[in-house]
Amino acid sequence: MSTQHGTPHDSRRSRGLFRTKSVEQSILDTEEPEHTLKKSLSALDLTVFGVGVVIGTGIFVLTGKIAKEQAGPAVALSFVVAGVVCALAALCYAEFASTVPVAGSAFTFSYASLGELPAWIIGWDLILELALGCAVVAVGWSGYVRSLLDSAGLHLPAGLSGTHEGQFGFDLLAFLLVLLLTGILVLGAKLSSRVTAVVVGIKVTVVLLVIVAGAFFINGANYTPFIPPSEPVEADGGLNAPLIQLMFGFTPANFGTMGIFAAAAVVFFAFIGFDIVATAAEETRNPQRDVPRGILGSLAICTILYVAVSIVVTGMEKYSKLSTDAPLADAFKDLGHPFYAGVISFGAAVGLTSVSMILLLGQSRVFFAMSRDGLLPRVFSKSHPRFGTPYRSTIALGVVVAVVAGFTSIDELAELVNIGTLFAFVVVAVGVILLRRSRPDLPRSFRTPLVPLVPVLSVAASVWLMLNLPAETWVRFAFWMVAGFVIYFLYGRKHSRLGIRTREAAKD
Ligand code: ALA
Repeated sequence: MSTQHGTPHDSRRSRGLFRTKSVEQSILDTEEPEHTLKKSLSALDLTVFGVGVVIGTGIFVLTGKIAKEQAGPAVALSFVVAGVVCALAALCYAEFASTVPVAGSAFTFSYASLGELPAWIIGWDLILELALGCAVVAVGWSGYVRSLLDSAGLHLPAGLSGTHEGQFGFDLLAFLLVLLLTGILVLGAKLSSRVTAVVVGIKVTVVLLVIVAGAFFINGANYTPFIPPSEPVEADGGLNAPLIQLMFGFTPANFGTMGIFAAAAVVFFAFIGFDIVATAAEETRNPQRDVPRGILGSLAICTILYVAVSIVVTGMEKYSKLSTDAPLADAFKDLGHPFYAGVISFGAAVGLTSVSMILLLGQSRVFFAMSRDGLLPRVFSKSHPRFGTPYRSTIALGVVVAVVAGFTSIDELAELVNIGTLFAFVVVAVGVILLRRSRPDLPRSFRTPLVPLVPVLSVAASVWLMLNLPAETWVRFAFWMVAGFVIYFLYGRKHSRLGIRTREAAKD
């Protein structure tokens, strides 16, 4: 096998910011004893991981909130739109994951196709999706737990209950949750996938309960109008408006057909996570076969459940009356069934733990891969001698995420998570096209259909959703990316292992 550096593919593209790391070298690096992860996951484990991340705040909160504020019963269609955007991206992720079965997801893929600087940028960008996503969900979780504790008559002091309406409070529960999950992840991916399997079981049961029990309370009149008439929103002309409106001067509107698309950019958050299945490729026993199955399988299951829950909940209660904090539970409460409401709140609290954990798992793998390549300090990529897990990157990230979760409130951060993820989708889709051209010879057990059409559609769909996010989110995103550039030029460029190898090869 031509696994050594200095292959013709390396030498063709070995210099500068766009030097690429050959796929063979990526796979070879995973075999270094001190930097190896244990291969213990199956397609089922991966699907469970996928479902474990995807079903979370989205289904338990966004369904009702967005139906009420932006789309009416047509929120089900917003979920379909967001699901299609994700499916297009999933087809691209699946090809990459089956070709480059190495920890690190979009970071690794782009290192093999686009080059080092784009790979760094994407790795940096993934921090928004994964680490920030983990913090956002942990904060959402603590809200549910506090509401359960309140029902039981136990009240946390306001100063430890998170930030509300500008009133600062440390979010103790979110902070403790992230630290606990960090400990579980250090003990091993197999253990964490078992914990996840139990949690996912509870969560899916509760979601099915909502669909089946809720179906008996549907009142057909609640579906009229299915797409409520468009209502112009008073634009403040500021950075809160979606970028597309500021660019083209549209009048912002809720509801109506355009409302369905604007809502899709928000409910997209509900789908975040299916791509994380790809980050576990290296720990999968048969990645070429199982990773694509895991990604597409979990996405399909979640899309069906989201659409079903949206249809049921908007049929149970008029969209304008849905609650925005706990719409599923409250719909049952409003219809006089507090028992179901309690079970749903419990399921949500349990379910969000797995979302947070898998986001953290994905983040630690990406960080591990970036450190193994020397773009971040190499100390973070030593695997644990006994557990075979990337314990240093997991602990370092866990502590930072716990602090962020303790000090931050959700709203704007969730939009930043969406933009970061959509940007990663764009890069992966472009990467599929480039890698087909530069390395047509590589074995691909899963091939994206209709290349370049599907990747091009994936780019277009992701960019469209990005444009529907507030301009303010774009500004924050730009700041984050600039910080990434600075770090790369101060650190990664000099310490990159690929760069060091290239320089050594040039000396010989
Ligand atoms: N998709 C995940 C959720 O809805 C992040 O919470």
